[in-house]
Amino acid sequence: MDRNDEQWGQGSKVWYAERECSLEAFSEQVERRENAPLAFADDVCESIPVYDCRKLAHAVADARQQRAALQGEWVRVLRDGAGVLVLKQAFTDTTPIDEATAVFESIIRSERASGAGAGDHFAQAGANDRIWNAQEKLCVQAPEVFARYFANPMLAAAAQAWLGPAWQMTSQVNVVRPGGAAQLAHRDYHLGFQTVEEAQRYPAHVHRMSAFLTLQGAVAHSDMPVESGPTKLLPYSQRYAEGYLAWRRPEFREYFEAHCVQLPLAKGDALFFNPALFHAAGANRTHPVTGVQRMANLLQVSSAFGRAMETLDRRRMCEAVFPVLKASHAARRMSACEIDAVIASCAEGYPFPTNLDRDPPSGGLAPRSQQTLLRQAIDEDWADTALRDALQNYDWRRRTTRDFT
Ligand SMILES: [Fe+2]
Repeated sequence: MDRNDEQWGQGSKVWYAERECSLEAFSEQVERRENAPLAFADDVCESIPVYDCRKLAHAVADARQQRAALQGEWVRVLRDGAGVLVLKQAFTDTTPIDEATAVFESIIRSERASGAGAGDHFAQAGANDRIWNAQEKLCVQAPEVFARYFANPMLAAAAQAWLGPAWQMTSQVNVVRPGGAAQLAHRDYHLGFQTVEEAQRYPAHVHRMSAFLTLQGAVAHSDMPVESGPTKLLPYSQRYAEGYLAWRRPEFREYFEAHCVQLPLAKGDALFFNPALFHAAGANRTHPVTGVQRMANLLQVSSAFGRAMETLDRRRMCEAVFPVLKASHAARRMSACEIDAVIASCAEGYPFPTNLDRDPPSGGLAPRSQQTLLRQAIDEDWADTALRDALQNYDWRRRTTRDFT
């Protein structure tokens, strides 16, 4: 095997086939435990690096070496190591979590009453509650809560570590009640949402690429003892290049059930993992009456270069959150870093695709992004109507015309 083969795995295959998936090759990858040294982790539990966020605040705030070194460690863990990491007390103050939980519970009640939001692709109806596009719903219904929640520098630092700048935050809330069943092992978006037949039509390098286009995360909105079913994880399973074709096979699912681990989480902890990691939500075995209503805000963060799974009206989100950010900036209630984190979790950070007839590159290689616009509006204390007009113009510049010449 030459160097190039080692990097890409399984020789120089261009196409993967489900029938060629090998449990032996998979287990060899999963059980190979060499790891890069961990300078920032506080602990390693069940092979998973655990970080104490109270000790990381300084490194995350350091715009230069420390932040880059920490993010480099996270990349190595997510790409080559366990494939998952835990950020203990990502929210040192859990007030924004409780505030968001109250908003989510009211959304669940109203969606249930209207008969909307019934679908969950994994659970039986009634066993779970799911809020799709929780990101836009929280932002529009409670922009102050949204701003306090996504001002969190740890979430932004993790997203940037894996995806670079201009990532696109989406989130889905999942509540699993006592008696809620476990999921089956799977991989996530993109290729994790394809049938085997569809996934086989993508060349091998795209199977590799899929994992680099998304970061999966979860914020615990309740304490999650193991009996309440925190996510079952198989550390190192993202290493197996053919895994998007393998996860439905019975022998792989059996191996997963025999070797997966679960870590208890406390409210305010966050978990981030490579979307190629084999994982499954656990069963909630707590008491039917007094047990844990396990609520997680599942963060699905997309690369600027990929397509997110959900449609969000980010213009509407920018309009909703702008007065809050403007007031927080004026009163110095939020630091520049916190405001940047909210902007990044709300506005579109990547200026393409656009209509270059209407939106030619000016003063650089790329047109301005929606994030740049929102930041300028905050810095220059624009009126709400000025931002609304600018966002309308931003959208107009991105539409094609019918009268091509
Ligand atoms: Fe998943």
